Amino acid sequence: MESIVSIRNLSKTYAGGFKALNNINLEIRKGEIIALLGPNGAGKTTLISAICGIVSPSEGEILVDGKDIIKDFRSTRSIIGLVPQELTTESFASVLSTVNFSRGLFGKSPNPEYIEQVLRDLSLWEKKDNKIIELSGGMKRRVLIAKALSHEPRVLFLDEPTAGVDVELRKDMWALVRKLRESGVTIILTTHYIEEAEEIADRIGVVTRGEILLVEEKDELMRKLGKKQLILELTRTLTALPESLSAHQLLLSDDGQQLTYTYDTQGERTGITSLMDDLRSAGIGFKDMQTKQSSLEEIFVKLVEES
Ligand SMILES: Nc1ncnc2c1ncn2[C@@H]1O[C@H](COP(=O)(O)OP(=O)(O)OP(=O)(O)O)[C@@H](O)[C@H]1O
Ligand SMILES: [Mg+2]
Repeated sequence: MESIVSIRNLSKTYAGGFKALNNINLEIRKGEIIALLGPNGAGKTTLISAICGIVSPSEGEILVDGKDIIKDFRSTRSIIGLVPQELTTESFASVLSTVNFSRGLFGKSPNPEYIEQVLRDLSLWEKKDNKIIELSGGMKRRVLIAKALSHEPRVLFLDEPTAGVDVELRKDMWALVRKLRESGVTIILTTHYIEEAEEIADRIGVVTRGEILLVEEKDELMRKLGKKQLILELTRTLTALPESLSAHQLLLSDDGQQLTYTYDTQGERTGITSLMDDLRSAGIGFKDMQTKQSSLEEIFVKLVEES
């Protein structure tokens, strides 16, 4: 698949001597939604800032749509939209004029219909004449998104886009992100809400200590690293697991009424059939059952712990 962003051997050492990025290589595919996950201080914002040409690399090269972000800054930056992590909008200007102004900065002629649609999509249209300082925190964050979209970028970076945004609006924003992707925009986002990545990302990149630990299709990652659990509600209370079941990876709940069987989703066979046979032989019955799949969050926490 065609790349829209190519990062080669990128390293960044800040002025104080701290190495925030260490030899990053990453291809971002045209039209995808990629989520960068990683603990605080992992280097996500530094990476995004480098791609947008705000932080200069110490080593390496970054191409956006085939052009070098440093050497060809102005024209390359004009196809990029960036929603920064930090709120910096404390202005007395109105929402509408702020967003129109942002568009103008990129040399684009006015497009009132487009700007209206952006503000409507972000539920900001009713506030279009309000001053920025009169808005709530979540609304200010949405103004940042409107500004980033004002010049119709083809690559959009969202650094923690939904921090401080309520659940309902977060869902609206996911819908907006999907709509943008459908129109051909490539989206790179960072988030600490792992379920957000699970919900909207096509690929997941895990960043730790300035390095990319892995980049993988989300579905593949969940299939490869995910575990499944089968939970059985027993018909009678067990005080201990019978010896005949010791070959299975079983966990008996403290109250003795629940058995949990953990199995690998990748394995050739799940072992459920033989477990059922052994349960029957041991005279253990169950009245209900459910299965549970590990969430991206569980996978992520484990990955970072082990790294
Ligand atoms: N201007 C700077 N000067 C020196 N060090 C910096 C600078 N900006 C960031 N760093 C350091 O680089 C590391 C990575 O920071 P960065 O902001 O990229 O992390 P992050 O992954 O975005 O974290 P978070 O999830 O908290 O937003 C941190 O240790 C940070 O202290
Ligand atoms: Mg950050």
